[in-house]
Amino acid sequence: MIELDLTTRLASLKLKNPVITASGTCGYGEELKEYLDPDIPGAITVKGLTIKPSVGNPAPRITETPAGILNSIGLENPGLEEFLATKLSVIGKLNVPVLVNISGHSLDDFAFLAEKLAPYPQIAGLEVNVSCPNLAGGGMAFGTDSELVYRVAYRVKENYPGPVIIKLTPNVTDIVEMAEAAVAGGADIISLINTLLAMAIDIDDKRPLLGNTFGGLSGPAIKPVALRMVYQVASRVKIPIIGMGGIMTGRDAIEFILAGASAVAVGTATLIDPGAVARIIEEIKEYMIEKEIKRIKDLIGQAL
Ligand SMILES: Cc1cc2nc3c(=O)[nH]c(=O)nc-3n(C[C@H](O)[C@H](O)[C@H](O)COP(=O)(O)O)c2cc1C
Repeated sequence: MIELDLTTRLASLKLKNPVITASGTCGYGEELKEYLDPDIPGAITVKGLTIKPSVGNPAPRITETPAGILNSIGLENPGLEEFLATKLSVIGKLNVPVLVNISGHSLDDFAFLAEKLAPYPQIAGLEVNVSCPNLAGGGMAFGTDSELVYRVAYRVKENYPGPVIIKLTPNVTDIVEMAEAAVAGGADIISLINTLLAMAIDIDDKRPLLGNTFGGLSGPAIKPVALRMVYQVASRVKIPIIGMGGIMTGRDAIEFILAGASAVAVGTATLIDPGAVARIIEEIKEYMIEKEIKRIKDLIGQAL
């Protein structure tokens, strides 16, 4: 029996395995503990945090689609003050690196959150969600304008000493341009993809099905798009990549690693099977045994 080495690196972060929980699908780690030992993932990414508490979007907020789900949760979260008062101690008890996903509606919001989260060693790094609307720019998502991606990355890096992950939106024409802007702004790691902007219509009510009209598509339906984007970014950018979008099995995860991801994140799969992350890690090991691969690191970017 060969001894498997699942460890991987994301800039200064050392992960014991490459499978991370995706933001918004595992709460603050402990909610899933009946189904998934929170010590098992390579890292945990918590729900998107904003400065002020947010109740999110009107219901219905989730609907199934063929091979995926549409969600318009709208960043429901307790806000910075409550996060520091109640959630920080929860994540401090976890034995894996915890990444805090942050969102803002202005460049100053991102800079403020980065500065306020900087003092806490319980936080291993920040994942910056640039899919949210820039209110000063008429509500266009930051992540659709490379100049803004650059500036968000720059402002977060200026205020946060630890690893900064810029999480790209797929709702763009040229994903490489956005990745290069993130690198130029100082990002240490890139994660991709967030959900694809989409909608569904209720033909009985003759109205959009989601309370917010539009939502984000995730799950197996988006995997080929996500994989293509990871491959394109990995071909052009030198910093480590966290790949995500529709990963349901270990074999899906291996595809992303071969496309150049140093780690992967699992979101929608957890909503269907709350133990998905543990299963996916086991399936990665099965593949490694089958192919006689000792180190997962040796697979990174092999398809490029
Ligand atoms: C219910 C739900 C909530 C999400 N919340 C966030 C969030 O707060 N911040 C964020 O950056 N991404 C959020 N995402 C996006 C996921 O982290 C992930 O990028 C996306 O769903 C693609 O991965 P998947 O197909 O494995 O779900 C959310 C996704 C879902 C399904």
